[in-house]
Amino acid sequence: MAFPEVRMRRLRRTEAFRRLVRETTLTVDDLVMPLFVVPGHGVVKPVQSMPGVAQLSVDRAVEECRRIADLGIPAVILFGIPEYKDATGSSAWRDDGVVQQAIRAIKTACPGLAVITDVCLCEYTDHGHCGVIVGQDVDNDATLDLLAKEAVSHAQAGADMVAPSDMMDGRVAAIREALDAEGFEHIPILAYAAKFASAFYGPFREAAESAPRFGDRRSYQMDPANGNEALREVELDLEEGADIVMVKPATFYLDVLWRVKETFGCPVAAYQVSGEYAMIQLLVQNGAVDEKRAVLESLLAIRRAGADFVLTYFATKVAPWLTRFSW
Ligand code: PBG
Repeated sequence: MAFPEVRMRRLRRTEAFRRLVRETTLTVDDLVMPLFVVPGHGVVKPVQSMPGVAQLSVDRAVEECRRIADLGIPAVILFGIPEYKDATGSSAWRDDGVVQQAIRAIKTACPGLAVITDVCLCEYTDHGHCGVIVGQDVDNDATLDLLAKEAVSHAQAGADMVAPSDMMDGRVAAIREALDAEGFEHIPILAYAAKFASAFYGPFREAAESAPRFGDRRSYQMDPANGNEALREVELDLEEGADIVMVKPATFYLDVLWRVKETFGCPVAAYQVSGEYAMIQLLVQNGAVDEKRAVLESLLAIRRAGADFVLTYFATKVAPWLTRFSW
């Protein structure tokens, strides 16, 4: 059958029909809110390139987490900006580090809110790279131990899940082994598995004060041209024990998300990164798009492509527009 018997517009005619045949949903259950934690007290320092996002001291991060939990958002992901940086990023595994303090305070104030931590060295190294520098490049194997120490330190502070974002080979296995050895075999690993060397991390590097001082991240993050390689990265991370794999950025890599979900069927996360966020915010500020529709469309597209949940700076903004699925 075809036109005129078939008319696709029949089911688009009313909002009730559109709701009945809608294929993809977005609920608060699908959101993770990223937070940037800085030393100090009472600090709320807006990030210039990310309108609506601020660096927060631990006390303010706790307040924000109370609001996040009240909105029904299941989880936050924490990034720490330490007081001191050095060549190996040693502040990353300090028991009194800014992220470790934040984890403890948030878990005390909001026990039901899942605290995920970003495991990487770029915020902690004075050169801004995601691992130890030997010669002109990041040394893979020397970095693994340090990442494992950082992950264990987060777990000891009470983190519910760790998320390595460094893109070193073998880091999921190294972290899994270290967590298990310390009695944290129940802590899942969310691996930034297909993480591309993207221009769209620009605003984040202001927020996390983590721009590399020399060179770029192309010797460890993926070439944006490669889709097959992304599947290989995901496969390896799953073999090493990743519980959830992430594709990052999201919007320009929807094909990768789709292929990962189709191929592995495992839990898949997507990171709508700082540049994607800023892009939409600028359109909104210029009055070029309707904010609610644009933000929801962007998140729905990421879900449609295969993401089970989305790390997004819009989480607290969209949560009040959404409902929660409950049994
Ligand atoms: C740390 C890290 C980055 C992001 C998340 N973890 C930056 C980078 O790799 O340079 C980017 C997040 C964003 O842009 O919102 N390695």
